[in-house]
Amino acid sequence: MDRRLRVAVGRGEWHDEFAAALEAHVRGGAPLEYDVVDIDAHDWQVKVAPYDLIIWKGRFMGPEFAGHYKEKVYFIERVLDKVIVPGFATVWHYDSKVAQSYIFAHWDVSSPETVASFDYDDARERLDRASFPIVAKRSHGASSTAVRLVQDRRSAQKWLDRTFSQELWDRYKAAHPKLATRWTTAPWHRWFWAKVLQRLLHHPRYGVVYWQEYIPNNDADLRITVIGDSYAYGFWRRNRPGDFRASGSGLLDYETHIPEEAIRYCLSLNRQFGFDSMAYDLLIKDGVFVITEMSYAYVDSAVLGTPGHYVLGSDDHLMYEDGHVPPQALWVDWALTKFSRSTNGL
Ligand SMILES: Nc1ncnc2c1ncn2[C@@H]1O[C@H](COP(=O)(O)OP(=O)(O)O)[C@@H](O)[C@H]1O
Ligand SMILES: [Mg+2]
Repeated sequence: MDRRLRVAVGRGEWHDEFAAALEAHVRGGAPLEYDVVDIDAHDWQVKVAPYDLIIWKGRFMGPEFAGHYKEKVYFIERVLDKVIVPGFATVWHYDSKVAQSYIFAHWDVSSPETVASFDYDDARERLDRASFPIVAKRSHGASSTAVRLVQDRRSAQKWLDRTFSQELWDRYKAAHPKLATRWTTAPWHRWFWAKVLQRLLHHPRYGVVYWQEYIPNNDADLRITVIGDSYAYGFWRRNRPGDFRASGSGLLDYETHIPEEAIRYCLSLNRQFGFDSMAYDLLIKDGVFVITEMSYAYVDSAVLGTPGHYVLGSDDHLMYEDGHVPPQALWVDWALTKFSRSTNGL
């Protein structure tokens, strides 16, 4: 490399921590320079142009803004041909459990049986085969806010009627061309009122149902956070009292043993899929770990609280290093490694 590596840290979440980690590299003599750059500004393409490597954790949540973030990550990586962390492989399925289910199914990732359907008849047919309770989830969301148990077929049917009210209304219109009959009979159907509510509240017209088989007998979930292809942290999250859900309970457990096979499995997934960072939520089904969901975005304080982290050596030896290491420092280490391995390096 005959000039210094230019690193842009995108303003957003964690930019101070990334800058501090880069500063430590500079002090250690690494041939790099960095700036904090506002990628949210209108002229972001001009702003990122001078840089070789971009580290940017967007600060926006929710599917709409996650969508805008993903578009920029795609553009920076695939059109501007720059190295970005997290890259598109890491973020394209962010905040979409539906999208994650495609990966889990295609690559046979150990996970609960999952159904994602955009079609009323198909969803009904799958529900007929389901054993209850099922765990219904909104595709986006965090902290268990959009995750609930559906106890029986009747409640599940109500859920389908609500979700697919537009599809059912479209069908009804086609089957009842006479306006008078349509308007006098439709209100007897549950989906009709869901459709009315959707119109009044300007909710999205079309829906998707997503559910998983219920994995019983778990009083906690295991959160394995992997950074790059060799760093990992692990901790447990206890369920809320009297609840099957752990995420968002705040009941972190750093004491209970973290099984090595779970850490190795999640590290292998990061390697297989080229993820820059991923937090995996695991439950135990009949003695085997299953991944319920994954996300590149997570609460850093929970990770920093772990008394140590794991490093997978090139000899496949899994080492444990004591001490609280901020995940951002490992993101930066990984970003520099990823850059040096990239073919479009300096
Ligand atoms: N299939 C399942 N069976 C049993 N419990 C589950 C299942 N999926 C999730 N949970 C519980 O619900 C919590 C929230 O689910 P999760 O899919 O992680 O959604 P969130 O995005 O809200 O974190 C998990 O922490 C876990 O305790
Ligand atoms: Mg979760």
